[in-house]
Amino acid sequence: MSTWGVLGLQNSNSPLMEQLIFFHDHSMVILIMITILVGYLMSTLFFNKLINRYLLEGQLLEVIWTVLPAVTLIFIALPSLRLLYLLDEVGSPSLTLKTIGHQWYWSYEYSDFQDVEFDSYMVPTNDLPLDGFRLLDVDNRVVLPYNTQVRLLVTAADVIHSWTVPTLGVKVDGVPGRLNQTSFFMSRPGLFYGQCSEICGANHSFMPIVLESVNMNTFINWINSQ
Ligand code: CUA
Repeated sequence: MSTWGVLGLQNSNSPLMEQLIFFHDHSMVILIMITILVGYLMSTLFFNKLINRYLLEGQLLEVIWTVLPAVTLIFIALPSLRLLYLLDEVGSPSLTLKTIGHQWYWSYEYSDFQDVEFDSYMVPTNDLPLDGFRLLDVDNRVVLPYNTQVRLLVTAADVIHSWTVPTLGVKVDGVPGRLNQTSFFMSRPGLFYGQCSEICGANHSFMPIVLESVNMNTFINWINSQ
């Protein structure tokens, strides 16, 4: 989860998020190079006394300053497209989680099993245990196995919500009357936190997501206990 002082991205818990972080860093390096170059060029303009009253055109220079940005953009666009299509790939999931956004809580359905469905509400600050995370902990966590391809179906019952878990690289809108699909693969066990990220009403900030990543045996035991 994100703690104090974490201004960048959280560590990834899925191969896709790992790729997203690589792409972020790649774009950031290009961005910094451009900023430094343009910053240097602009600052030199203040300190030189160059004047050329007869300058009308500079074909070579214009070719260079047109082609260079175009090539730079291609270096961003190609990895971006690769990631876009990679994120869209559902593969052959062995488990399906259906999540439904409500004002203002999430409800979950494990449609591979009979009658496994529950609501997940934020724990109010007053009821929070001493080691609880304020505005982030829920009464019923989503439990899922790691090292397993999971299909995620997202929808909503009233207004648009968005099921967003940063460590997974998952951010899918829940839209009433529509069923959105994505998938993810968790690389390690742990507790992973997320929040709704569509402005869905007065208590938008108070419908967090807690995902419990466990091994397959623990998951099966949990399913059996439902
Ligand atoms: Cu649901 Cu914001």
